[in-house]
Amino acid sequence: MRELRVIGETVSGEAVAEAVREGLLACPKTLPPWLFYDEQGSALFEKITALPEYYPTRMERELLHRHAREIAAGRDELRPLSVVELGAGSAQKTALLLRALDAEGCGISYLPMDISATALREAEEQLGRDFPQLRLRPVLTDFTCERPMLPIDAEDQRMLLWLGSSAGNFEMEDAVRILRDASTEMREGDFLLLGLDGAPEANGRETDKQISDLLRAYDDAAGVTAAFNRNLLKRMGRELGAEFCVDQFEHEARWNSRTSCVEMHLVSTMAQSVFVRELERWFHFQAGESIHTENSRKFARDEARALVRAAGFSPVKSWHDANGWYGLFLGQRV
Ligand code: TRP
Repeated sequence: MRELRVIGETVSGEAVAEAVREGLLACPKTLPPWLFYDEQGSALFEKITALPEYYPTRMERELLHRHAREIAAGRDELRPLSVVELGAGSAQKTALLLRALDAEGCGISYLPMDISATALREAEEQLGRDFPQLRLRPVLTDFTCERPMLPIDAEDQRMLLWLGSSAGNFEMEDAVRILRDASTEMREGDFLLLGLDGAPEANGRETDKQISDLLRAYDDAAGVTAAFNRNLLKRMGRELGAEFCVDQFEHEARWNSRTSCVEMHLVSTMAQSVFVRELERWFHFQAGESIHTENSRKFARDEARALVRAAGFSPVKSWHDANGWYGLFLGQRV
């Protein structure tokens, strides 16, 4: 298990250096996705969520809005509810659900977890203003490598949220471990709600989604996703004195049918060597060689339910947009 990366408000410089050294020496070259989310990266990601091509955020918000009351209907009205969210970001979509949950029973606490202090502060400000009766307890943590102690009363019913198809950004076994770690103290009747993006058309069932729809969502016309991906190169420049020529790397989204993943790459347009001052060494790139920066797995419905089960919950219900592109999956501990 890796060391805790969050120190005070930010990820430690050594952790960034170590991740970059390891990733750029690997073959094929890769970088860990958490590197995306410095201040500039987090701001660019917020922009991605508003892009016309990037349907997941829009669809998820719509599903939360439409089905919040039904999702909330299972709660035990006689007990307070603690809602824990992995990678909450600025938590804007979650407010819809919290409102419906709050209407149903006695008091709720909300524990957004994130690696970005800026995003958590924004969540705190916004929700504190709109939702004064909410007990708000932001947790700055890297939940991918540590299991934080959460201030939750033993008698509370719990609901664990992992939205935005973020589970799809991890290897399956890591996603399962993260969910299990975050739910060790959950008991019978507690809930898990996952937001997961759907796989493209499987024998004409479930959805009419095409691979081209997927690729557009990760390679938008305005170039915001490309800027988000290239921000990694700029971040290495800012924090490690890496001398990348940013426009000598092209942003590329690829579909991998074997893994059912959209892959994000930064492809070197020419043979080149880049010096990284902080690491005191050169890294070599062939023409066309890529740095693999992210995976976004797309789930068939039975795979999504299998994930709910592997996390230790039994699938209760799922909700989908009219075209079956995106899904919310609810599980309950039995
Ligand atoms: N969870 C999001 C997804 O897989 C993250 C994401 C959206 C992303 N767009 C991206 C990650 C572009 C890297 C690059 O859809």
